[in-house]
Amino acid sequence: MNQEGVDHSKRQFLTSALSVVGAVGAGYLAVPFLSQMQPSAKAMAAGAPVEVDISKMESGQLIRVAWRGKPVWVLNRTPEVLSTLTTLDSKLADPVSNESHQPDYAKNSLRALKPEIFVAVGLCTHLGCSPTFRPEIAPNDLGPDWKGGFFCPCHGSWFDLAGRVYRGVPAPTNLEIPPYRYVTDSLIMIGEDNEAKSA
Ligand code: FES
Repeated sequence: MNQEGVDHSKRQFLTSALSVVGAVGAGYLAVPFLSQMQPSAKAMAAGAPVEVDISKMESGQLIRVAWRGKPVWVLNRTPEVLSTLTTLDSKLADPVSNESHQPDYAKNSLRALKPEIFVAVGLCTHLGCSPTFRPEIAPNDLGPDWKGGFFCPCHGSWFDLAGRVYRGVPAPTNLEIPPYRYVTDSLIMIGEDNEAKSA
């Protein structure tokens, strides 16, 4: 017993005992809490798929969403854009996407499951800047050869509206296409495709 009348050895025992009870109690609380948290932590690490409702998209409209911390674009291409895309092959570095990163079902000249809806990761394949959406034909700042596309302001790379890179620019490959699938005609799931779903 010290001069303040407190028995330190007793107090220490009581403190330790309460700590054990507290830890056990916290353990009971923590187990169900952690098991509830586990799937979402796992899903986050894997990059949970993102649903995009395209039912109200207008022709020519671009929607931006985030998936795995990256910007993903969904573009509703107009009939004029689709016909222009068929004329650009000679100006492109990889028109049929042999060297580029996309699922097999997007390895075609329009790089999409359905012609009008284009889905791509919005990061330049040079050093990762986010290109700007420039659908207009031959604007003053880009000149008469510009047929509408994505322009990367960092070092001047050009991509068409299928994300295909032009020849002679710094970006080495076409824009990446993420895995995606149609849940319904008006709902797209980005980050998951039918191959992954059936696997
Ligand atoms: S990052 Fe796009 S051109 Fe360099």
